[in-house]
Amino acid sequence: MSIIPNSGNGKITVPDLLQRKTQAAGSQSNFQKITCLTAYDYPTARLLDEAGVDVILVGDSLGMVVLGHESTLPVTIDDMLHHTRAVRRGTRRALLVADMPYGSYHTDMAEALRNAMRFVKEAGAEAVKVEGGERRLELISRLTEAEMPVMGHVGLTPQSVNALGGYRVQGKTPDTAEQLIRDARAVEAAGAFAVVLEAVPRELAAQLRITTIGIGAGPDCDGQILVVHDLLGLTFNQTPKFARQYANVGEVISNAVREYCSDVRNGGFPSDAESYHSPQMAKGHKTVFIEN
Ligand code: KIV
Repeated sequence: MSIIPNSGNGKITVPDLLQRKTQAAGSQSNFQKITCLTAYDYPTARLLDEAGVDVILVGDSLGMVVLGHESTLPVTIDDMLHHTRAVRRGTRRALLVADMPYGSYHTDMAEALRNAMRFVKEAGAEAVKVEGGERRLELISRLTEAEMPVMGHVGLTPQSVNALGGYRVQGKTPDTAEQLIRDARAVEAAGAFAVVLEAVPRELAAQLRITTIGIGAGPDCDGQILVVHDLLGLTFNQTPKFARQYANVGEVISNAVREYCSDVRNGGFPSDAESYHSPQMAKGHKTVFIEN
């Protein structure tokens, strides 16, 4: 594996992303926006990776879109490790980032560092994401000192749903807007390589030097991320205003399954071409041997 960013094999690394931002500071015109999506399993990871997505995040949104929980709060570190390993197997080019779930970095610092390292050592993640701004300054600094690239996440942080009182746009009042800027700058100062800005006024991105990845944060971010189930039309709940649905895979699946059920019921599946044959049985022999 090459350690030189952009060394020809196309693998996206953290230094590549930092370099894009530095180059962009020089000339805005040739900045290539960063494409990010979530994935939680091997086939989705392969499809996204082969389609050229730059960053794949194993988001703790898996608790809601894959495991059927009402929020991300019940997601465990074992859930995240299990899904990160599956995504690792399907990811070659993209940078693989894993979300640290609620409770895995909220108690003590040593435990948070050990948990973060499990994602690298046991699941092959190349970076971790943690939610929160000023509150995470020390954690992000300690992780980056330990050679662990960190992606921050400020604004609407779903792990704070109980503290925030719901999933709402953040930073709408002057005080909360000020706090948002402080949070994002704390993540930047702590050494994170990028920050996710979720459900915040689009003006925030321009206030920051750090690489910004938006989800409901407007077009001025350096990159965009969506939950892949929202993009594909695979969710059952109403999607947020910022999520654009590019396909209706849910409908494709429903139609395919209905057609299959109907074919089985009316004898249309399987056909003779989809069946095996035994010449002895066809001739009416009593003792036949069928190979496994
Ligand atoms: O968990 C997740 O999928 C996320 C993204 C929406 C940024 O945090």
